[in-house]
Amino acid sequence: MAKITVLGMGAMGARMALSLIKAKHEVTVWNRSLEKTELIVQAGAAVADTPRTAVQNADFAISMVRDDEASKQVWLDSETGALASLPQKAIAIESSTLTVVWTKELGQQFEQRGIGFLDAPVAGTRPQAETAQLIYFIGGDAEVFAQAKPILQTMGSAIHPIGSVGSGMTMKLAVNALFGIQISALGELIGLLRKCGLDEGKALKILASTPVCSPAAKGAAAGILARNFAPMFPIELVEKDLSYTLKTAEANDAKLPLVEATQNIFAYSIKEGYAEDNITGIAQLYL
Ligand SMILES: NC(=O)c1ccc[n+]([C@@H]2O[C@H](COP(=O)([O-])OP(=O)(O)OC[C@H]3O[C@@H](n4cnc5c(N)ncnc54)[C@H](OP(=O)(O)O)[C@@H]3O)[C@@H](O)[C@H]2O)c1
Repeated sequence: MAKITVLGMGAMGARMALSLIKAKHEVTVWNRSLEKTELIVQAGAAVADTPRTAVQNADFAISMVRDDEASKQVWLDSETGALASLPQKAIAIESSTLTVVWTKELGQQFEQRGIGFLDAPVAGTRPQAETAQLIYFIGGDAEVFAQAKPILQTMGSAIHPIGSVGSGMTMKLAVNALFGIQISALGELIGLLRKCGLDEGKALKILASTPVCSPAAKGAAAGILARNFAPMFPIELVEKDLSYTLKTAEANDAKLPLVEATQNIFAYSIKEGYAEDNITGIAQLYL
């Protein structure tokens, strides 16, 4: 049993913390808005009032927050940031989806303090977080990873170490970009099929049966057909991730015209009022 702190009780962080509690770890949580910690405290977690107090006895500290800005605040805020009070033997795990530039900067901060750090973003959404079926992409030192692996295995079903700090985040952004491109294309094509007078249900069934349709697009097609856009991976986070992919490309002199076009479409759908809908809600632009 390890002492594990989870910083960020959003949709993903809360579910990951529950998996850790189920695995009998001693879990402490923190969230910017205290009310979101209620359910997890009922499930057996302790709650702390700042990231700094939350991690002071931790063996592992996991961050699962929205973006670069939030990550910076939870780890490095001059008064409440977690890094300053992490025990020397602890391991810090950044699981939020962030820019690669920021992830590397953060990794350097931990290196300077001699504290183990992994970037460990995940693929999979709320149901996968709930059932410990997340797919992890890991950047960081192999020895640090070996120590953290049993903890990650209580939340994930596939754990992929890739390389040095930042490589997990790079992989995650690539996976999400491919997902965003596919679902954006699917939404457009459903619009086309309907406008050409085809029966939507029949056309989608045929599309899904072909080898060109990925399992992710197949699942999304079913959601679109049912007009079920309840948030799992909300459009506003998809757009954030695509813009982070573009920033990563810019920093590495890579060209991503298709990702850029897709990011523009998701940004437009936010303006149209679909920010809180699931990624599949992009289809509403064309239905
Ligand atoms: N949803 C998915 O399907 C999915 C899948 C894989 C990865 N991810 C990634 O995982 C991360 C969390 O996603 P989520 O779905 O859990 O998002 P979420 O439900 O929107 O939760 C966001 C969390 O970040 C916190 N936060 C936001 N800004 C903050 C700030 N400035 N300082 C401190 N805390 C801040 C929020 O605190 P408050 O409660 O106080 O607002 C909340 O705990 C994101 O990086 C996301 O891209 C999401």
